[in-house]
Formats: sequence, C-alpha cells, structure tokens
Amino acid sequence: MKILMVCLGNICRSPLAHGILQHKANEAGLEWEIDSAGTNGYHNGEKPDPRSVSIAGIYGIDITYQNSRQITVEDLDYYDIIYVMDTSNYNNVMTMCTSDSQKDKVKLILNEITPGANEAVPDPYYGGDKGFENVYKMLDEACEFIIKKA
Ligand code: 4NP
Repeated sequence: MKILMVCLGNICRSPLAHGILQHKANEAGLEWEIDSAGTNGYHNGEKPDPRSVSIAGIYGIDITYQNSRQITVEDLDYYDIIYVMDTSNYNNVMTMCTSDSQKDKVKLILNEITPGANEAVPDPYYGGDKGFENVYKMLDEACEFIIKKA
C-alpha cells in the first residue's frame, strides 16, 4: 500500500500524519510506503514545523527526516490513497485529477473515524502548542482506524 498525506503547507499536519501512519504500519509489520505533500509549495525543502517535531517526539516518533514538497500530478497515479486534512485541500487536489480513478483515491482523513461527516483537521499553524496536541490526537486516532482496516 502506498499512501500520501496532504495538507496546505506540508509542514504541520501532513508531516505528523505521515510519521504517525509510517510508525504504526512498521509496528504492525506492514510494508507500507507513506509520504506527504502540500497543495502549495511555499515551504518546499523545509523541515516540519518545530511544534510538529516536538509533539511527535513526545510520542516517540521522529519526523525530522522529512522535507516539505508540493504534490505533483505523478502522485495522483503513484499512490493508492491520498488522504487530505480539510475540504480546501480536497478541492485543490480534486481539481488536479484528470480521471475518476484518481478522484476515487482522494479522501478526507477524518472520514475514517466518522464516515461522511467531512470533518477537518484544523490548521494549527497560527495557534499555540495546544493546537498541535489536538491535531496529533485526531491524526493518531484516524491512523489507528486505517491500520485496523488493513
Ligand atoms: P499545514 O499548515 O498545511 O498543516 O502544513 C500550514 C503551514 C503553513 C502555512 C499554512 C498552513 N502557510 O500559510 O505558510
């Protein structure tokens, strides 16, 4: 299974989702390939936000190897599932898709927990550390559901 996690800047939410799911997949003995990307390229080449690095570290997950990059059209064919964090990400990725098979891969990650509710993982960029803790917990729960389904 190849899974791409997508948010806006690929420095806060999707790097956490990427690190959490890779960690859980490895622990479960699943040979899954996980990556993450942003719909904008503003932070290309940057490391994850220090607040994401910090909260992941508290839970024993290292995300410092990651580098921000923008999603490409090749990603839409390469990955099996593309999880997005909010409806803005969803709309941005859907407009890149050129086939129904690509569109079918794009899913809101919190719909794994509450199907059809279309809830967002809130963007914590302009908030404090509490926002990152909240995002971590949401993503941890969603990734647990994804692993359990496997
Ligand atoms: P992310 O958060 O999409 O979770 O990585 C953001 C990071 C940077 C910006 C916006 C959101 N920004 O506008 O620079």
